Order: sequence, then structure tokens, then C-alpha cells
Amino acid sequence: MSANCSRLKGMCNGVGDGYNLGVPTLPLNRILQGNCIDVLNSLPEKSVDLIFADPPYNLQLQNDLFRPDLSKVDAVDDNWDKFSSFEKYDEFTSNWLRAAKRVLKDTGTIWVIGSYHNIYRVGAVMQDLGYWILNDVVWLKTNPMPNFRGVRFTNAHETLLWAQKEQGAKYTFNHKAMKALNDDLQMRSDWVIPLATGKERLKTNGTKTHPTQKPEALLYRVILSTTNPGDVVLDPFFGSGTTGAVAKKLGRNFIGIERETKYIKAAQKRIDAIKSAPAEALDLPEKRNQERVPFGALVENGYLKPGQKLQYAKGKREATILANGHIKCGKLIGSIHMVARELTNAPANGWEMWLYSERGKLKPINELREKIRKAITAKSAKNAKKKSLS
Ligand SMILES: C[S@@+](CC[C@H](N)C(=O)[O-])C[C@H]1O[C@@H](n2cnc3c(N)ncnc32)[C@H](O)[C@@H]1O
Repeated sequence: MSANCSRLKGMCNGVGDGYNLGVPTLPLNRILQGNCIDVLNSLPEKSVDLIFADPPYNLQLQNDLFRPDLSKVDAVDDNWDKFSSFEKYDEFTSNWLRAAKRVLKDTGTIWVIGSYHNIYRVGAVMQDLGYWILNDVVWLKTNPMPNFRGVRFTNAHETLLWAQKEQGAKYTFNHKAMKALNDDLQMRSDWVIPLATGKERLKTNGTKTHPTQKPEALLYRVILSTTNPGDVVLDPFFGSGTTGAVAKKLGRNFIGIERETKYIKAAQKRIDAIKSAPAEALDLPEKRNQERVPFGALVENGYLKPGQKLQYAKGKREATILANGHIKCGKLIGSIHMVARELTNAPANGWEMWLYSERGKLKPINELREKIRKAITAKSAKNAKKKSLS
């Protein structure tokens, strides 16, 4: 199959591009031009970690809207948002959500954003296709457009549905990062974020480049909460490229799909100007995602030796390391946790209670666990890189 890239940097025709001897490979950090259903169907199955989708709203605007000063409101009246009936919209929704499910890894999750015009229909189709909804998040706009005619409430929010591909599968949720982002309080499902305005809003000859450009702060929260550095984030309705811009900033890979050339050009220029944050700033401790390391792994891998002594952190007790990863302290034999519990007569985490001696200095065994974890993570990152290059 021939590569079919246009001369625009990174802009390729998704169908028929990114193939290696007939096997589709992942076109990372590229914007693929085409109908998202066709392009999704051309990508390898179970290959992306997260999908963020901002599909057409199907606004069904009947007439032009005017402000009190008679200036015309810049509403979404583009052809890409027009469907002849709810049935047609549901059919389109079902087709792209099905295609999206195929490319999502079993551990992957999907976010779909919408307004009252479409989100109920989208949610029902998602459930029918077997997606398992994890949350609905309300994006509260601090600066919504007023209801100029004063005949309804100001429409001040949109809804994001966050769902996993397989009910009960493992998925990424960086709870700690979200808590830290929210002044150490658990992040709630109501997000107060302004519309993209000012410098952030892309303009062409003084007018908005894209009518529905989403704020980067919204995507920042989505991507930071549900992916890890190096993950692949796909957006089938890429528009002005907000997802790609934030993914790049946060050290994630992106794949964008978009039909319109003018949006692709604007998105590419925007993304090219973005610098990724340094790896050190993206390496966030999320305990639940960390590799479980049993104490025995330290012994097996030579970080500690059978027969070596461990000091108890409280008082002067000493234990001997056994060949099977248990420890012996007087008559007590068991795991580092069990022996620590017996000595303290209270719940105890052995990793925090035992010290080993290195060049005459006592150090917590937890430091060795971190060392072995880093080695495991580096090895799996190397393997993942090898895999993505092959
Ligand atoms: C709601 S906008 C997305 C805006 C985007 N989130 C942003 O921040 O700029 C939807 C986009 O999807 C594109 N689109 C609509 N139908 C499409 C399809 N079937 N395949 C690919 N792109 C499509 C439109 O051209 C439009 O740019």
C-alpha cells in the first residue's frame, strides 16, 4: 500500500497510510485527513489508550441569531454539524463509536463531550454498544454566551461522558494527580473552566478559526487524569487540534482525525509551536499504578542477601533475611509486614519499618524497592518503545 502524505508536515491521508507490509502501524503525532469512520477502520485494533471525541452537536439551528445590537452571533452553522434527522445522527454516532471501540485497547477509556442537543443520544448509543460509563462530568462555563432573546436559561454547561471499553477492566485514573491539581481535595465531577478566549483562541483574519475550539484547561484535566506519559490519545474530530496541543504539552502521543483542510492546517501550526514539558515534570507518583514489588524480589535480584541483617526502625531488634524472602527475628518467622506487626503489636507496613546497612549507614529498605521499581519501569518503557517502532 502506498503512503499518501500531503506536503503539509505531519498531515497525511489516513486511509492507506501508515502501513508496514500490509500490517497497519500507528501513525503517531500526525493529523489524518478523512472521514473519521474510514480512518478509524484503517488503524490497528486495540492500539490506543484514550479517545477524546468532540463530535458534531447536531444543533439544528433554524434561523440566524442576533445580539441586541443586531450583530450576528457566530453560531455553529457549518455543514459538518448538519444531519437530516435524529435517526441519521444516531446512525452516524453508532458507526463512529463502534469504529472507535475497535481501536481502543481493552484497558482504554473514552471521553465524549456534548451539549443537551446530542449528549443524551450519544450516551444511549454508548451504552448500547457496551461502553461502561464511569462518570459524567459537567463543564461549567464561567463566561457562557447569554441567551440573547431571553426565552430560555443561559446555557452555561456541557457534559462529558467518561466510559471504559470493557466493564471491570483495568483502566487509568490518576486520582492523586487530580487531587494535587485541586489543592489536595478530591477532584469533583463539576469542572469550572472558562471558554477558550483571548490569546488561546485561534483567529484567521480577525475571526475565530474554529467555531467550537475547546479550552486547553479542559483537555489538560482529561489527559492528565486518564493517561500516562507516552500513552496514545486519539481524537476523531480534531478541529483546531486542542487535544493534540495538550497531549504534546503533557508528553503523550496523539493521533488526530479531521475532514477539513483549513482546520488541519491551523491545528498543525498550533501543535508545531508547542513544547513538551520536561520528563521530570511529568513523572508523577500514582501509587496504585506502581509495580507491586514483593520483598523477595530484593533478595532474588541481589539487592539484599540471605543471611543479611535488618534493623527494626523502633528499638534495637534485629532480623535475619531468609533465602525465601521471609525474615527471622528471635522466634518470629514471616514476612517483613507480619514480623513488624508482631513487634509493634499494631498494624505495620514492613517497607517502612526495616532498615538495612550500606557502608556503615542504616537506610530504609523502601529505597531498594524504589530502585527495583525504576529498573522495571525503565525496562518496560524500553520494550514499549521497541514495540511501537517495530
Ligand atoms: C465540535 S468540532 C471539534 C472541535 C475541537 N475539539 C477543537 O477543540 O477545536 C468537530 C470537528 O469534527 C470535524 N468532523 C465532523 N464530522 C467529521 C467526520 N465524519 N470525520 C472527521 N471529522 C469530522 C469537523 O470538521 C469539526 O472540525
